[in-house]
Amino acid sequence: MNTSDFIFQSKDKKADNLTVTWQTPSNIALVKYWGKSEPQIPKNASVSFTLNNCHTTTKIEFTKRDVLMASELQADFELFFEGKKKDDFKPKIAKFFERVKEYCPYILEYSMVISSENSFPHSSGIASSASGMSAIAMCLMSLEKELNPNITKEFINQKASFLARLGSGSASRSIEGPIVVWGSHSEIEGSSDLFGIKFPYKIHPIFDNYQDTILLVDKDEKQVSSTVGHNLMHNHPYAENRFTQANENLEEISKILQNGDIKAFINLVESEALTLHAMMLTSNPYFILMKPNTLEIINRIWEYRQENNSNICFTLDAGANVHVLYPNSEKTEIESFIKNDLAAYCQKNHYICDSVGFGARPM
Ligand code: PMV
Repeated sequence: MNTSDFIFQSKDKKADNLTVTWQTPSNIALVKYWGKSEPQIPKNASVSFTLNNCHTTTKIEFTKRDVLMASELQADFELFFEGKKKDDFKPKIAKFFERVKEYCPYILEYSMVISSENSFPHSSGIASSASGMSAIAMCLMSLEKELNPNITKEFINQKASFLARLGSGSASRSIEGPIVVWGSHSEIEGSSDLFGIKFPYKIHPIFDNYQDTILLVDKDEKQVSSTVGHNLMHNHPYAENRFTQANENLEEISKILQNGDIKAFINLVESEALTLHAMMLTSNPYFILMKPNTLEIINRIWEYRQENNSNICFTLDAGANVHVLYPNSEKTEIESFIKNDLAAYCQKNHYICDSVGFGARPM
């Protein structure tokens, strides 16, 4: 598929007013995306677990607008977040519509009222851009399906991922599940820089219902946004090696996901997390998103793993929170370790129990 394949063509059908609601999840990368070129093209391929409980539910009410020259217009929308008008989120969404209107020109023919809510607390340090952008993308595709009923489910998912990517790179990985690859890679059939694809090989059962408990170490807004962080990979002294390494790690993890070598999984996933943060530590300007308790938790996980011959491991996002990953078969003992030990390192003892999920759901 090329970019031009996503430009809307059909004018067969008309839709006056339409209300659609989608729920789409967050995701957690195992091999990380950090560094991009315009327009949201990743410098390396990445792969993630789609989450289940951390999600955004978005309703869009489309009402036909009275316009003569739609092509000259900007998208017209109102935004409500958790029941309240949210004008401070509008510029980001306006920029998203500017980017996608080339592919979905029909959005200019409607006034949109967007109402969104997250299943996770707003100030939890959990990035909501992946679930938020993918939910809007799915709503746009529901309108597109009304206008062109011939489009297939496969195309809808692909284009939704393509659109979501233009809002936030990692959002391209939030349409499907349980494992999604985004970024062109010679060893992953069908992979593309333009959209995420479902991991195309048989996944070892050890990864079924894999658990992710998110330890909320720091709920404050990040000091450095991921947009700034990605940009700091331009002229970064280790950037090229990092992109090569990530692509090698993707090839490696593809084998691991198929053969179930969990020790190799732990090693690769933790190394990826620390490498992501190493890129931040070695940027210019440099910055640190981990907090003292992030490191305390990592050390406790390592001790626990050693003492109990456990398969617990961690990964990190661009923030201080720790994602604790473990097989479903070890859920009972690891949950009590989290509750009795790790929770003390979280803000107000807060953590969120999640697991691998299956992607976007119509509501
Ligand atoms: O999608 P963005 O631009 O917010 O970047 C996300 C980057 C990481 O979460 C740190 C890594 C990833 O692959 O999700």
